Amino acid sequence: MRAALSRRYGGPEQIEVTQIETPRPGPGEVVIKLHATTVSRTDCGMLRGYPWFMRLSAGLFAPRAKVLGVDFAGTVAAIGEGVGAYAPGDRVFGLSPERFGAHAEYLCLPVTGPMALLPEGIEFADAVLCEGAWYAETYLQDFGIGPGDRILIYGASGAIGTAAVQLAKARGAEVTAVVGTRHVDLARELGADRVIDYQKEAYLALDERFNFILDAVGKASYFQCRKLLLPDGRFAATDLGAGWQNIWLSLWFGLIGSTRLRFPMPRANPVMIARFASLMRAGQLKAVIDRCYGLNEIVAAYRYVETAQKTGIVILDPVAQTGGETP
Ligand SMILES: NC(=O)c1ccc[n+]([C@@H]2O[C@H](COP(=O)([O-])OP(=O)(O)OC[C@H]3O[C@@H](n4cnc5c(N)ncnc54)[C@H](OP(=O)(O)O)[C@@H]3O)[C@@H](O)[C@H]2O)c1
Repeated sequence: MRAALSRRYGGPEQIEVTQIETPRPGPGEVVIKLHATTVSRTDCGMLRGYPWFMRLSAGLFAPRAKVLGVDFAGTVAAIGEGVGAYAPGDRVFGLSPERFGAHAEYLCLPVTGPMALLPEGIEFADAVLCEGAWYAETYLQDFGIGPGDRILIYGASGAIGTAAVQLAKARGAEVTAVVGTRHVDLARELGADRVIDYQKEAYLALDERFNFILDAVGKASYFQCRKLLLPDGRFAATDLGAGWQNIWLSLWFGLIGSTRLRFPMPRANPVMIARFASLMRAGQLKAVIDRCYGLNEIVAAYRYVETAQKTGIVILDPVAQTGGETP
């Protein structure tokens, strides 16, 4: 099968699209013929081995996962011994956050991993939103966001931010989204109750207080945002922040027994992916697709995602030579 191989940590230029052996399912595994995947910020971090502490688990001197790619959607091609939950031909989608491997034509995964059946009528490309949704849902779950909570999402235009707005609305929260001018209409379409254009309005001057603030793009900080928090309000960020402050602050607040700021590690399981499936079926969770690339264009796809300017997700078609029309 064709796959995008990165043998060492480094930039996108070292990725080689080449032939490797097609995986076969072992006991309790399924092999999926992929129809869509993404190039995500998680892939970018793994590609360069940054932040360096992730190399402790990902491989000290070279990545253990030579084929990256977390999000996937495709059809089950083969099942291993003891697999009853899926049959060949089933349309599935989900995440491969441990093995990676979705930047290829086929992916082999344990059947107990974070995946689910893809609802009828949802295209493969519209299903590869799980990487952002996974982070967003972990945060909303950890902070117990529910009906009536007032939340502010800073940077509601990336993969995590666009998912966070929709998932917070699905939980019944009242959402204020902070985005740049070019994303104001998008944030409204996603369901935000109020949209602040950070290029025209100082969101820190808002005369409102929030239960929860999520910095979804790592460009705000707790010290700036704390004045917008209610006395029992809480803050979380998806990035380390300047000087890795979000790590140090979460350790500090943990030490003093406070949950004011946390830096939750994303967790995914089949239940979370099944929830995404039912929200997709109900029209409450939709992919925001920026661009599509073919597998041969993977270097360009990484270079674009590394600009940190994408809107929502960037699709990689594992079969097509080129991405074709951008939707
Ligand atoms: N290391 C990891 O494994 C990992 C994994 C996942 C995510 N993350 C982190 O999570 C964050 C979000 O990732 P993502 O994939 O959702 O999105 P992303 O690629 O970081 O998001 C880009 C979006 O951010 C907006 N943006 C840029 N500058 C901004 C600013 N100053 N204020 C507000 N918005 C701004 C951009 O639109 P405008 O420029 O038009 O505003 C663009 O739509 C990133 O910081 C990423 O590093 C890290």
